[in-house]
Amino acid sequence: MTDTLLEWDDSFLIGIKELDYEHKLLIDDINRLHKELARHDERSEIEKCLGDIHARMQAHFALEERVMKEGEYEYFDEHRSAHDALLDSYTEYMIRILNDTDIYAGRTIEEFLQHWVIDHILTSDKRMSLMVQARE
Ligand SMILES: [Fe+2]
Ligand SMILES: [Fe+2]
Repeated sequence: MTDTLLEWDDSFLIGIKELDYEHKLLIDDINRLHKELARHDERSEIEKCLGDIHARMQAHFALEERVMKEGEYEYFDEHRSAHDALLDSYTEYMIRILNDTDIYAGRTIEEFLQHWVIDHILTSDKRMSLMVQARE
């Protein structure tokens, strides 16, 4: 198992500074969770990482939604629904780990995070950024 789950790559850049900065922090948090899950001996650290990612996602989505609103992004509702669904799924996986009801929950949450970060940033966030910046 490698130390890094998600390697930051400049292809993730969407061109809006504060959002790119937060995407990087989110990837750092996810990699930190990956390390803690692999070490598997500090339950409190795993719980802290899970909570940090939850808080980071919430704050990030709120900021991104503000940028979309100010930029009068026409697919705002659709994008916000995607954020809500991501946060709901993440919360569900997080609870499974916290309650220890699923021994595969760690792997599942990693796969989920890996896919949504890549898909959501590279498609939805990029499209939003291009359209919002084109209006400026
Ligand atoms: Fe987004
Ligand atoms: Fe984003």
